[in-house]
Amino acid sequence: MIFYFSGTGNSRWAAEQIAALTGDKALDIIALDPVPDLHNEAQIGLVFPVYAWGVPEPMLAFAQSLGKTDAFTFGVCTCGEEAGYTMKKLSAVYPLRSSYSLVMPNNYVIGSELDDEMTVRHKIDTASAELQTIAQEILQRKPVYRVSEGTHAGLKSGMVNFGFNRFARSTKSFYATDACNGCGLCARHCPTQTITLADGKPRWGKQCYQCLRCINACPQRAIQYGKQTETRGRYTIDPYVKSR
Ligand SMILES: Cc1cc2nc3c(=O)[nH]c(=O)nc-3n(C[C@H](O)[C@H](O)[C@H](O)COP(=O)(O)O)c2cc1C
Ligand code: SF4
Ligand code: SF4
Repeated sequence: MIFYFSGTGNSRWAAEQIAALTGDKALDIIALDPVPDLHNEAQIGLVFPVYAWGVPEPMLAFAQSLGKTDAFTFGVCTCGEEAGYTMKKLSAVYPLRSSYSLVMPNNYVIGSELDDEMTVRHKIDTASAELQTIAQEILQRKPVYRVSEGTHAGLKSGMVNFGFNRFARSTKSFYATDACNGCGLCARHCPTQTITLADGKPRWGKQCYQCLRCINACPQRAIQYGKQTETRGRYTIDPYVKSR
């Protein structure tokens, strides 16, 4: 069984690719009710995005809730560039036999401009080939640690990640412009269900994973985060993989 968390689709797609290549199933941890019985599972995989060189809160909590297992356990984090000690941190709460990072298009639009079209396509093609190798290694039950940790991984996955979770997950800077047509998609798809519609416009509550699905997936590009996102692009994987 493969479990995933995903904001803009990269990790969902990666989990679905591995599931198809290994004859398994991929399930979204946000939609699980209840967690299936895992006693007879031959393999258990966790797939998720890197957030500030660490594991997103919902995936960490999910991994902590899983019991001991004799299954072959593996984890794949998707990232724009580098993962730091993300997989070591996950393995500390849920021991993994294999750990991978997979470079995919960056979705952190509130931090910087996103990848251009050519880079997005190149990253998805490269990831697609890498997933074939990962799936083969999983089927062979080969223990692998292939993670692009980058530089200063201890500092980034330590203090910087702590700072992100403590101070950078506020919803205060989100707002919708007049381009919003009140379709409600952002509210329906928010994994923390923190968005509600009031007078046909989204309003943000407090609990936020910073998955950035709302801002990236709004069909009207009506969501902004402060001033910095006004001139930047948006990214979700859907238009790139639908035609494949
Ligand atoms: C809050 C946040 C923090 C991020 N931090 C990192 C990071 O530390 N390193 C990195 O390479 N990419 C980082 N990214 C980029 C994502 O990890 C990357 O785009 C990922 O593939 C998105 O996966 P998803 O589409 O499944 O949500 C970050 C993205 C977000 C939203
Ligand atoms: S997805 Fe965009 S257009 Fe639809 S309600 Fe949300 S902000 Fe408005
Ligand atoms: S408010 Fe937006 S960024 Fe925060 S969890 Fe919901 S969809 Fe993700």
